[in-house]
Formats: sequence, structure tokens, C-alpha cells
Amino acid sequence: MPVTVVVGCQFGDEGKGKIVDYLARGADWVARYGGGANAGHTVQIGRETFVLHLLPSGILTPRPKCVIGHGVVADPVYLLEEMDLLVGRGVPVAGRLFISEGAHALLPYHPMIETLDGEDVRVGTTKRGIGPAYQDKVRRAGIRFYELLDPKRLRVRLEEHAARLETLYRGVGKTPPAPIDQLFAGWISTYSQVADRLRPLVVDTVELLNSALRRGEKILGEGAQGTFLDIDLGTYPYVTSSNTTAGGAATGLGLPPSSLRKVIGVCKAYATRVGEGPFPTELSAGAADALREKGSEFGATTGRPRRVGWCDLVQLRYAARVNGVTSLIITKLDILSGMPQLEIATAYDTPGGRTTAHPVDTEVLARSKPVYESAPGWLEPVSGVRRYGELPAAARSYLDRFEAAAECPISMVSVGSARSAIMTVPPRGRR
Ligand code: IMP
Repeated sequence: MPVTVVVGCQFGDEGKGKIVDYLARGADWVARYGGGANAGHTVQIGRETFVLHLLPSGILTPRPKCVIGHGVVADPVYLLEEMDLLVGRGVPVAGRLFISEGAHALLPYHPMIETLDGEDVRVGTTKRGIGPAYQDKVRRAGIRFYELLDPKRLRVRLEEHAARLETLYRGVGKTPPAPIDQLFAGWISTYSQVADRLRPLVVDTVELLNSALRRGEKILGEGAQGTFLDIDLGTYPYVTSSNTTAGGAATGLGLPPSSLRKVIGVCKAYATRVGEGPFPTELSAGAADALREKGSEFGATTGRPRRVGWCDLVQLRYAARVNGVTSLIITKLDILSGMPQLEIATAYDTPGGRTTAHPVDTEVLARSKPVYESAPGWLEPVSGVRRYGELPAAARSYLDRFEAAAECPISMVSVGSARSAIMTVPPRGRR
């Protein structure tokens, strides 16, 4: 059974959590492959709203087992808190959640280093310490979950990190929030307590998932953030620190790239971005306000108001290509109801001329002006529509533009936050 990967085609916040929750009913495994608690996956079930930051969204559906792959940087204390929160709300977690022994631990000094370095302000990060945790991984100094479970090794490793933290503070002439040996003693005490609880969950997930693959079980790879926040393919340096695109599922889970045969690209009917960095189709403050309020566009992790813009087909074309998107799911179509006219960016005017290719140089991107085509909007609400054919003709032709840019079919459209507000889209010839 080929692996299916769910990726974001924009800057994150496309509604992947809700889509993974929906698809999880047909999956045996749901596996998060990158990022950390910077993600905020909102899922509404009946009257209850769950916001998951670290656990795979599949955890809310009883059927699948869930994996946090080694591509994730996971705060062990936060992980247990999120688990406890779910158990407290009646979600079964025991025996269903596995954490890769190779996952890197996000530890309390990571957010401190992020602030010390000014990275949080420069990039507008979520302040969760994601960048420094991945920096430790890349400079080959990270602490992986298997070390977390071994008190002797952990002590040695934390000593190294405590000494480095002291040097970093000294280097910028600042004092840490508490003396370093006091912080160190706190870490030792915390992690010796959490280790016992984590031990049953921490396993070789590469073996687990590859065995499942061989048995023909259905694996759903859950991406976090979006294509344009990918460390390699996004709007660098205004990106997160992991590979958020589909390739990250292979490296972050240890699944062979050849097994990733279905890639579902999730794309909001308009665009949003939170944090710094270029956003070609961004609307000016006044125009963005109505859409932001209507779409509740406030960060699920930080509560920050999201920047809002028109749909950008230059970005969608690029996202479809670099991820190898095989089908699209469009979310939040209902939010556009009531707008008589919509603008769609189809190309950019860059200093080097007009292009339909996403510029790699972020400065060029920042200076690019979108070329818009206007499309008629629709005034009627669509949140009650459950059959594609019942959507207004203008909404269907708006969606056609997404298919043309991505060169693949739309398989589903979502028109509300409830699980039931997702409609399947028939293949082109049968619409
Ligand atoms: P970091 O991942 O906290 O290092 O933040 C890097 C950039 O990615 C910032 O612009 C964040 O706002 C953005 N970011 C990180 N996670 C998410 C997410 O889940 N949704 C939207 N933006 C995100």
C-alpha cells in the first residue's frame, strides 16, 4: 500500500489538521514527520475543538496508531502534557502513540537561545525554540530520545549544553534567568521523572513503519507548516527549520521515497501568513481585516493575527511541482462568500521581467508585484453545501483555476470547521 502524505501548499495554516483527522479514519498509521510544537492543528469534533501542537492529528480518531518520527523536534515535557490533556478529554492514547528513539529532544535552553540570538524577532518565530533545536541537530550536538532515557548519558549531554548556554550568555553580556547550575539541576530532576513515563512510547519507528508498509497497511504522513516555510524550498530565511515538503516525510520517517505515491496538497481558498517574510498577494490592513475576522485568522500557537492575501497561483504551481502533489484539497471556501469580485495572482512582475515561476531569491520575491486576474465572486453562503454540483457556478470556476495551476484534480473541498463540512469532488468527467 503506497504511503499518502499531506502537505501544506502555502505558509502553513491551510487546515491540514482537519484534513488529516478526516483521512485518519481510513488509515492504519498517522505519522508526523517534521517540525515541533510550533504547529497548531485545529480539529473540531462535534462541539469540541482540539488544538494539537505535537501529537499527530490522527490521534483523535480511534483507528490509527500514531507516530512522531525522528524528523520531529519534541519537547518531552510538553509531549506528556499534551497526551494528558487528551486523555483527560476522553481520547484514548495508551498503546496508540509511538515516538522515534531518534527524534531530537527540544529542551528548555532552546527557547532561551532563540531569544538570545534575536532569531524570534528577526523571523517572527513561534518562540518555541524550534530553530535552536534543529541547529543542535545539524551541528551534531542534539540529544535524541534514546539518550533521554539513559540517566548517565543524559547527565553528560546536559552538562555540555549547560556549559554552552553559559558561554552564549557571557558572549552577549547577559545573565541567564537563573544561575546555570540551578537550571542544570532542574533539568536533571525533570528529565529523570519524565523518562519513566516516556520509556514505553519510545521505539524504533523506522522498523515499525517499514514493517507496516510491508504488511500493506495504510500510512498517512502528516506534514506541519507549509511549502513556503520549508528550510530549503521556502522563502529563506523567513522559514522554519525543517523540510516541511513531501520529501521530508521520507527522511523524517525513514520511509523509502518510492513509497510516497500519493501527495495531498492542502490549500486554503485564499492565502495567509504569520511571521515575517515576503507575501506577494498580501492585502493592505483595512482590506485584510474583514477576511481575517471572518476566517478567524489568528495563529493557533501564538494567537498572532495572520496576514491575509489573495490566492496565489504562482505559489500553488510551485508547491504542486516540488511536492509532486497528486490531488488537492481546498479549505475555507465558505469564507469567500459575499465578495462580489476575487483577485487571483497568475504571474509576478519581477525586476527581471514577468514570470510564472516562484523566485528563489527572497529579495526578488519581495520586489515582485503579482499580476492579477479578476474573477467573479459569489454572494450566497456555501457553508451548508455538501455536494460539489450545488456550489455556485462562480465558486466552481474559481476552483477550476486551482486545478489548472496545480495540474492535478481537486479531490475535496471544505466549507466549514466541522468534520461533516468536507465534500468530495467527483472526477472531472462526472461533475
Ligand atoms: P519557527 O518554526 O517557530 O522557528 O518559526 C519560523 C517561521 O515559521 C515563523 O514565520 C513562524 O510564524 C512560522 N511558523 C512556524 N510554524 C507555523 C505553523 O504551524 N503555521 C504557520 N506558521 C508557522
